[in-house]
Formats: sequence, structure tokens, C-alpha cells
Amino acid sequence: MQFHTKPTTYSKLTVDLLVEFVSSEDWEKELTDLNKTFNNQLLVYLKSERYEAKENTVQIIPSVGQSSFKTLVIASIGKKTELSLNSVRIAVAQAAKYAQTTHKKSIAFDLNTTLFGQLNLQDGAYVVVEGAVLGAYEFSKYKSETKKNFHEIEDIYFLVPASKIQHIANGIELGELMVKGTIFARDLINESPTITTPIFLAAAAKSLAKREEVQVEIFTESEARRMGMLAFLAVSRGSDEPAKFIKLTYKGTGKKKIVLAGKAITFDTGGLSLKDAKNMETMKLDMSGAAAVLGIFKVLPQLKPKATVIGLIAACENMPGAKATKPGDIVTALNGTSIEILNTDAEGRLTLADVLSYAVKEKPTAIIDLATLTGACMVALGEDIAGLFSNNVELKESLLIASRVVGEKMWELPLEKDYKDQIKSDIADLRNIGKGRYGGAITAALFLEEFVDNIPWVHLDIAGPAFAEKDSPLISKGGAGYGVRTILQYLRSL
Ligand code: BES
Ligand code: ZN
Ligand code: ZN
Repeated sequence: MQFHTKPTTYSKLTVDLLVEFVSSEDWEKELTDLNKTFNNQLLVYLKSERYEAKENTVQIIPSVGQSSFKTLVIASIGKKTELSLNSVRIAVAQAAKYAQTTHKKSIAFDLNTTLFGQLNLQDGAYVVVEGAVLGAYEFSKYKSETKKNFHEIEDIYFLVPASKIQHIANGIELGELMVKGTIFARDLINESPTITTPIFLAAAAKSLAKREEVQVEIFTESEARRMGMLAFLAVSRGSDEPAKFIKLTYKGTGKKKIVLAGKAITFDTGGLSLKDAKNMETMKLDMSGAAAVLGIFKVLPQLKPKATVIGLIAACENMPGAKATKPGDIVTALNGTSIEILNTDAEGRLTLADVLSYAVKEKPTAIIDLATLTGACMVALGEDIAGLFSNNVELKESLLIASRVVGEKMWELPLEKDYKDQIKSDIADLRNIGKGRYGGAITAALFLEEFVDNIPWVHLDIAGPAFAEKDSPLISKGGAGYGVRTILQYLRSL
């Protein structure tokens, strides 16, 4: 998919598809010009169809050879007064999906409209790129050519006023970085889990070190053991795949140092506390946090944030092999805290205990972890919204703002002190599951908090939004690459 800016109007460009944005209040006015192209029959037709420009709908109009485009797509962004970047993203994604399934090769998005006056055109172009690329994405690598139900869009044109060319170019550049990182993460999550082993993730990280701004170190199991990462290694014990601890460093010019930690269970069977078949089906998703961190590092050298960024990934499988950790086993994490493991399926917090302890030693300005940590978080917030936990108001606010800009939904949940009793063990410092049935996302977060000292920290429980169980305009079924865009936007804002 190639993006081009054209200081022109649709009448001067030959394309398969023209996308015109309209609002539900003023669509008639907004279509006046196009109506002329259709010999004044466009509005007559739309009215006869009882068209209302309802939010997130697209209306397809064939031009049957009368104009410079073969098909017109009228994409409604809903109420003009409620216009948001995300409504444009969704409208674009729908148009892009339509283009793909009907094998259209070239699309023009008309940004000459007054509608975009409210947004700036740079943001407009940015969200069009995100909508088009994310909306068009499918993991089609394993589909035979004849079974693919879509074809790649080749060229996307932005029709813009000549004076705004530079703004548009900036918006396109940012959008392309955001989607490049996101799609890198999606592909990793969607790949077969027997391929995306810890060794594979380590190699993927190494491949990012080709740019001199990014350094990557891989630690073997014995190196991790020497460092004291025994909670992490306890999770890996039942697997034949060797665990890898991966550290990526991007050196910025500024003073801030941000650690990004991603949960990386390349497959979560639950271990000896085995999951049932249904709950195991999607458990290749359990490295989505790590996939996001890798997606972010993929584009950091081009995004060039000021801060130094450190990515930490403790990658292993959670398998019920003969050497697997048993419920009742006690291990000591890198920071000296002992943990009674009562459920081997609460493994993410064990790997993160060591990763967070390691992160603290880096003396960072902030730590952000992304983890598909608990089913309980999905019970609380549903499939689309991540749970956010934090010990620092300023950091939390910055992340919430960034998430709103990019349209990734998250909601704060409390680190409720009174629930801390639930993770106290009778025979060790901590136990790895709560004592009751409720509040599982919170007890998991409280467990993690034990390992961050008092460093400003945000924990994102992305169990819900990391993996889509059904298609939506911006995410086709499967890995979402959730978190990449929020974190990139946050790093940009520093
Ligand atoms: N990887 C799962 C959490 C998960 C569940 C992510 C569903 C995405 C979708 C995690 O390791 C897990 O199994 N958590 C347990 C914790 C419990 C044993 C305390 C859970 O949520 O059931
Ligand atoms: Zn688990
Ligand atoms: Zn897990």
C-alpha cells in the first residue's frame, strides 16, 4: 500500500474508488459538488434510499463510467459536532475493507472537505493511514491464493488543498510508523505458537538491532539463573523449549529512561494447573505484551523519541512437562521475595516479578508493563478495554491521554490496599493467587506492585483487547497489536 498526496480534486484523478466523508447533519450540503458530477441525481437517489448518514456506515454508489472514479463510497463520520479522530479511523477502515473485498486497486480520500476543518489536516491524514492499513490487515499467510477473499490495495491518494501538502506528508509519516509497529506485533501474535517460541522471539528482537540506535542482548537460562530469576525459570520448567530473557535498548538524547516490559508466555497451557481445551484455544496470544514491545522497538529509530527506552521480555512456554513446577512449590524472585506457587496458571505474574525486579535495578524514570494477565480483567471490563493500574498520577494521566489520541481503550482499576491480605502466604512472602473468587485483576496487579519499589509504574492488563474474538472495522479476528500505538504516542509526548 503506497500513499500519495495530490494537490487536486477528484475530477482530475482516475481511481477505482473515491471516498467522500460526510456528517449526519450536513451530508446534503457536503455532497453538493459531487451531485453535479452525477447530473444532480446523487441526492435524489440517496433520498429515495432514505439515506441518513448514520455514524460508521458506508454507502456505495457506482458511477458507471461517468466520472474519473469507478465507484463512490460515502463514509459517514456521524455527527459533525461529535467528530473524533476515531470516527474517521473507523469510516476509513470500512471503506478500505470494501475496497479490498471488491478488488479495488486505487482509492482516493477527499480531504478537501470542510469537515476536516475541525481536525487539523495532519491528524486527518494520520488517522486515514491508520484506518486504511489496520482496517485492511488480515493474517493471510496460510491461506491458499484461491481462498483469499481480498486483494491488496495498491495506491491511496489524498486529495488536498495545495497549501497543506506538508501537513499531510507529516501525518502520513506518523501513521505509517504507528501501523508498521502494530502490524509487526499482530503478525507475531497470529503466527503459530510452535513457531513463535522463546528462541524465535529472541531472533525477532535481534533482527531489530540492525539499526545502530537499538541494541539487543539475549540471556540464556543459565545466565538468568545466575541473575536470580528463579520465578521466571519456574514457569519454564515444564517445557522443552529453552527460556530467553531479552533486553532491548534504544538510546535517546534526553534524560528520561522508560522501561517497557511485555509478558511473553509463547504458549500458556496453564502448566500442571492445566487449562481446559476451550480456554487454551487462543493461548498463543499470551505473548501479546512482548509482541507490542517488539512492535514499538521496530519503529523507535524512525520515531526518534527523546527518552531512552529499555524493552524487557522474559520469554518462555508454560507447559505441564515432567519437570514442571508443582502447585505448592516455593521460589525466590530476583529481588529476594519468596513466592508460594499455588496455581501454575497464574504464571504471568511470576515471570513479571523477575522482569520488574530487573527493571528497578535500571533506575528508570518509569516502568510500563503490558500483560495478558487475567481473565478476571475481561470479566470486569469486557474484551475491548484494558485495565490500567498505577502508583503514579502523572504517569497514569499521560498514558490515558495517549490512549485517547490513538483510540485504544483503557480504564483505571484500583490497587486496593485492603486486598493485599489475599496475596499473603502462610509459608512464603507471597502466594501467586488470591484467596477468594473475586477481584482477580486487582490481586494480580497488587502482586506485581511488590516488585516495582516506588518507581512510577503503570500496569496494563491487556487480556481482553490483545486478541479479537470477532472482526471489527479496525481489527480482524486475532492479534490486535494493542498497546503499540498508545506507547508510541506516549513516547512522542515526552
Ligand atoms: N494468560 C492467562 C490470562 C488470560 C486469559 C489472557 C484469557 C487472555 C485471555 C493467565 O496466565 C491466566 O491463566 N490467568 C488465570 C489466573 C488465575 C489462575 C488466578 C486466570 O485469569 O484465570
Ligand atoms: Zn496462565
Ligand atoms: Zn498467561
